[in-house]
Amino acid sequence: MIKFTIITLFPEALEPYLKTSMMWKAAEKGLAEYNFVNLREFGLGPHRSVDDTPYGGGDGMLLRCEPVFAAIESVKDKDPAAKVIIPTPVGEIWNQEMARSFAGKAENMHYIILCPHYEGYDERIMSIVDYKISLGKYVLTGGELPALIIIDSVVRLIPGVLGGEKSAEIESFSDGDNLEYPQYTKPYDFRGMTVPDILLSGNHGEIAKWRAEHSGRV
Ligand code: ADE
Repeated sequence: MIKFTIITLFPEALEPYLKTSMMWKAAEKGLAEYNFVNLREFGLGPHRSVDDTPYGGGDGMLLRCEPVFAAIESVKDKDPAAKVIIPTPVGEIWNQEMARSFAGKAENMHYIILCPHYEGYDERIMSIVDYKISLGKYVLTGGELPALIIIDSVVRLIPGVLGGEKSAEIESFSDGDNLEYPQYTKPYDFRGMTVPDILLSGNHGEIAKWRAEHSGRV
């Protein structure tokens, strides 16, 4: 079972997605578990503040160390082996191989995903982070969407989550940078656009050849 504990100011933004479709089926089958920790509960003072202005000046607010460390430690106290992931645009760019490696270690792994918000975070937070992960060269307002993408791309690769294991094997990127071949379903003729006849031929060798020829590479 793979466990994710998501530390966020907006658990309500994440819950609906994880309670839907394959992510929820994985939880129901006991293959994945999702927990939420509301960072606000670890905020400072009467306003439960989690951020402050940057030393040296500059725009915006930064996540402070105290609430973040307290939130992470509250999880690690119960499970010291849990690994901490921070989604950040300056992290290593996430790809299928990394998703596969996380899924391969799914048995008894517990990941804490810290979702930063505001303009950024105090750099000292990096001292308790195991993985810095970027979802691409663009900037989002927070770590919630990256957290969902990381979870989705890992959980769907865990054996037993998708119906036919074959579909995860042959899909795009499962073989290096290979892109999946084009696929068709009924009807044969849709508005004059017909299905390549080779796919109706029943000749599996020829079909495999056609598919290999039509797999794109990035
Ligand atoms: N937080 C903000 N932008 C991000 C990105 N591109 N990847 C991961 N985390 C982020």
